[in-house]
Amino acid sequence: MKREYISHIFSSKPFGKRVTIAGWVRTRRDSKAGFSFIELNDGSCLKNIQIIVDRGLSNYETEILKLSPGASIVVRGEVVKSPGKGQELELRADEVKILGWSDPSKYPLQKKRHSFEFLRTIAHLRPRTNTFGAVARVRNRLSIAIHSFFQKRGFIYIHTPILTGSDCEGAGQLFRVTSFDLDNLPVKDKKVDYSKDFFGVPANLTVSGQLEAEVYALAMGNVYTFGPTFRAENSNTARHLAEFWMVEPEMAFCELDEDVSIATEFLKYLIEDVLTNCMDDLSFFNKFIKPGLINELEEIAKGHFKIVSYTEAVEILSRSGEQFQFPVKWGNDLQSEHERYLCERAFNCPVVVYDYPREIKPFYMKLNSDGKTVRAMDILFKGVGEVIGGSEREDDYDVLLERIKETGLNPDNYWWYLDLRRFGSAPHSGFGLGFDRFVQFVTGMNNIRDVIPFPRTPGNINF
Ligand code: 4AD
Ligand code: MG
Repeated sequence: MKREYISHIFSSKPFGKRVTIAGWVRTRRDSKAGFSFIELNDGSCLKNIQIIVDRGLSNYETEILKLSPGASIVVRGEVVKSPGKGQELELRADEVKILGWSDPSKYPLQKKRHSFEFLRTIAHLRPRTNTFGAVARVRNRLSIAIHSFFQKRGFIYIHTPILTGSDCEGAGQLFRVTSFDLDNLPVKDKKVDYSKDFFGVPANLTVSGQLEAEVYALAMGNVYTFGPTFRAENSNTARHLAEFWMVEPEMAFCELDEDVSIATEFLKYLIEDVLTNCMDDLSFFNKFIKPGLINELEEIAKGHFKIVSYTEAVEILSRSGEQFQFPVKWGNDLQSEHERYLCERAFNCPVVVYDYPREIKPFYMKLNSDGKTVRAMDILFKGVGEVIGGSEREDDYDVLLERIKETGLNPDNYWWYLDLRRFGSAPHSGFGLGFDRFVQFVTGMNNIRDVIPFPRTPGNINF
């Protein structure tokens, strides 16, 4: 069907022209003067278009007066200036064809506002609401901006695998992948015999594309991967998903300082991009979801990030006089209450924390000469906490081998990763942006389950 997007009608304002549009009815009002108003949305923009349907239309009594929210229609009509307040144009219908009815006694999206908890139970219909439409458009725009940032800088986009035999983060939070009949497992010496499984060895869904991205960085220089990652961590929080999207650039001949600069430049670029391209949707979030959002985004786009070492951060937290639930002690990981204190109270801006204790970070991070800390960096934002985790990678074969053993991993599974340090090793660094957490920050949405179309969390895979 040849049709115009409603967004295009609002931007091009083709007054006097006949157009065809299609979408889903949001509301219908009938005027005593013998016509009806239909608010139609097609997902192309936040705004609904107002359609005026005159009772002279042949199906006015039989169909138009029965139209209710959720029904899908195709409308042909003329774009005219709107005499009413609140919109500058409307469509005078010549023809309204009903494609799909929506029984008003059964359609769940009747009220103007539903709770997000309720909308999660109807994830198949929630994109028809203003909020979820806006989230989807911002998410789309950010995805494109990610590619344009890297492409402009000559990074090569690499498709890293989703099925893998290794555990990048070494944290053991893996979803196993198997073609076994789980009710009838082949057993050898009282253990599952993986040699009979699809790959002949245990396999899992990837927790990160980093290790494979490193392979390509050490051949092509600057690369990035952007795809889904999976973690079986049992964290039932507003910032954790079992399936989330991660953007992971990896740069050869790059040390930690440069890694931090690229990461901060990247975040500012993305924010700048949505401020330029998604203002209608951001204004909606600013009004209904998080007052002050646009101002906050503008400040980050033009402001600076505070950079502190982990050791300094621990000192600041210890001196704060705050009663934290988790003790602040050098060697402990920063908890979200600590991250929030740093961003919200201590500095009131995004914070980069670098040089963490080796014990709390994965095996691949480069060991500092103090022997106690690694060249890690986390970027913390208000509200959502850690949006980026990155590091310079260990490029020394012997040190890396030690670190793999020390963290309890089997070096045999990492032979190819170790090989990169035997043949043409070079300093290299990268980071991972938690895409969904970032979308959460940009939209001001409270819960990460509401920024991904179909959230996967412990006990929840209904859609
Ligand atoms: O800090 P993480 O674990 O780092 C890595 O995976 C590295 N391999 C990245 C790299 O250097 N290439 O994860 C990166 C980011 C976190 O900062 C966080 O924003 C997000 O991914 N993240 C999650 N987002 C949603 N749900 C979860 N369960 C997440 N776990 C991490
Ligand atoms: Mg991390």
